[in-house]
Amino acid sequence: MTDQIFYPHKELFPNSPIRNMCEYDELVEKFENDYEGTWEAFAREKIDWYKPFDRVLNEDDAPFYKWFEGGELNVAYQCVGRHLATRKNKAAIIFEGDNGDQRILTYRELYYEVNKMANLFRNQFDIKKGDRVVLYMPMIPEAAIAMLACAKLGAIHSVVFGGFSAEALRDRIIDAEAKLVVTADGAFRKGKPYMLKPIVDKALESGCESVQAVCVVERNGEEIHWEPGRDYSYNELIKNESVQCEPEIVEAEHPLFLLYTSGSTGKPKGVQHSTAGYILWAQMTMEWVFDVQDNDTFWCTADVGWITGHTYIVYGPLAAGATTVMFEGVMTFPDAGRAWKMVEEYQINQFYTAPTAIRLLHKMGQDEPAKYDLSSLRVLGTVGEPIDPPAWKWYYEAVGGSRCSIVDTWWQTETGGHMISPLPAATPVKPACATFPLPGIKAEVINPDGSKPEVGEQGLMCITKPWPSMIRTIWGDPERFKKSYFGDAVKDGKPVYFSGDGAIVDEDGYITITGRTDDVINVSGHRMGTAEVESAIKKHPNVAAVAVVGKPHEIKGEGIFAYVVLKEVPVDKRDETAEDLEMVKEINAIIKQEIGAIAMCDAIAFVPDLPKTRSGKVMRRLLRAIAKGDTITQDTSTLENPAIVGEIEAIVSGG
Ligand code: PRX
Repeated sequence: MTDQIFYPHKELFPNSPIRNMCEYDELVEKFENDYEGTWEAFAREKIDWYKPFDRVLNEDDAPFYKWFEGGELNVAYQCVGRHLATRKNKAAIIFEGDNGDQRILTYRELYYEVNKMANLFRNQFDIKKGDRVVLYMPMIPEAAIAMLACAKLGAIHSVVFGGFSAEALRDRIIDAEAKLVVTADGAFRKGKPYMLKPIVDKALESGCESVQAVCVVERNGEEIHWEPGRDYSYNELIKNESVQCEPEIVEAEHPLFLLYTSGSTGKPKGVQHSTAGYILWAQMTMEWVFDVQDNDTFWCTADVGWITGHTYIVYGPLAAGATTVMFEGVMTFPDAGRAWKMVEEYQINQFYTAPTAIRLLHKMGQDEPAKYDLSSLRVLGTVGEPIDPPAWKWYYEAVGGSRCSIVDTWWQTETGGHMISPLPAATPVKPACATFPLPGIKAEVINPDGSKPEVGEQGLMCITKPWPSMIRTIWGDPERFKKSYFGDAVKDGKPVYFSGDGAIVDEDGYITITGRTDDVINVSGHRMGTAEVESAIKKHPNVAAVAVVGKPHEIKGEGIFAYVVLKEVPVDKRDETAEDLEMVKEINAIIKQEIGAIAMCDAIAFVPDLPKTRSGKVMRRLLRAIAKGDTITQDTSTLENPAIVGEIEAIVSGG
């Protein structure tokens, strides 16, 4: 199956911007021959500038690259305002609530809603260009409206995923020195209300002096605490705001947003994106990779709290003038046919989700897709982690009717938009393979010294030329930015961007991503730093040492596996006792409090010690292999404590 090549059903894509591999090659060559000139042409064509730029790329202060200097624009105008001339009555956002309630916002309505919210931010909360606004929101249209309202004012938003805990939210508020927090009372999930505002209350209990106000969207109507002088009801105040709002025109490099993501060390980093470069690539990839045509309905199932939600629910689709679907609920509620029912009902043309969701929908409802009319679908996307061939096959056959193009899109929070992906009308696809870099993106698999690995050998997934939508810096920590991304690989004497992923190029030039090479775990397509989880676990008073690794998981891709050494060992056989179960609960409760339920451990092994080198470094590679159940072939005699390996193996295997 993996050797088979799947060719696009070209009749589905008569108007694609890149219709075949010749056109792909031509465009790649155009960028090769005139990198800046080709970007310049796209930037002039795609962006409605208030003032045109006078320089394409400034590399003087590399790796702090600057794109389109001199240019001025406004992203809310690019995404909404400019569409009023041609598509004011077209649906911009189709919202479906958890319980099936629907709301459709046309471009005109969205324009008014964004203006009203921007006026509210400006008039009531004194939000100005450059101020940071934290959004802790459920999947409701107001999340997108708030993002665009910030863009309208040149304020920098930082969306924090609603699954993060009060502690995690607090850290992000403090790091960004946010002036305003926008949240909701809560929302609905699986037929029941859940709450967000109490988590904001808790986050603001200490250390968030920068926050002057909390703006609360009342979605589920549950009882919440209102702090006088701090908390304001959006639903009440918005009634008084005008539907007209003067945009703040910003320079091309003005930060559009921060989005915190996990690295292999330390606390989460605030990835800072620019205005012009980001929106340009969001729009171009929407057009190239998803082939959105004017009458299409596009559905990306991500949460707006992740980069996928930013680029492919809000900014990309709206910049492209498309209709984007936003869904509050979960795809398996009330049953595993929910997603397919929605595809039928809204006649979805492009469906974009994560392998973890595909595996779950496959497992829970293998035959569900056949019960619905999915004939509107043309492109099926996947993102966030490597997709395994069985999941790919089911997606292709059962969901796509062996007709749709599957685009396995490789990219990251830091890249802003797709980097490596098939093009639906053009690319012959090998299953579970991200295929080729998009035109304009110099994505190369190299060794640290810039040389190419042999065919089939793993190398570092690097981007060797700056690109418009790249991360600009880590908020407040430019040194960490340089060290994290430009310290591992060099090409032609210059440090190049290293993604943290490994990859293999095959004899036909196809790129397959093999996963992270650093201490980042990919749980259900979400990045978790082992260091973050470890520092949460260490807060338990009875934990002496801990090492966290990823372990293959049938649905999540990777699960979190922790090896814990206790200070006091109450009994000998640690893995069978009630005390252990209690400890597991306590440790997971701490993780939930410090990070959120998404980082809870799938398994915890209580071990007498961790395998260490003589210099004291924990041998994670060994621990990963043991968690996976692999036989240890590595020489362990150089360890400080070689006997521990066998002991740990016995504990993990239940021996
Ligand atoms: O390891 C890669 C994996 O997800 C990481 C980026 O995570 P994040 O910044 O949270 O963004 C996720 C959504 C873009 C990458 O370093 N990844 C993403 N897409 C793929 C992937 N791994 C394999 N195949 C993909 N298509």
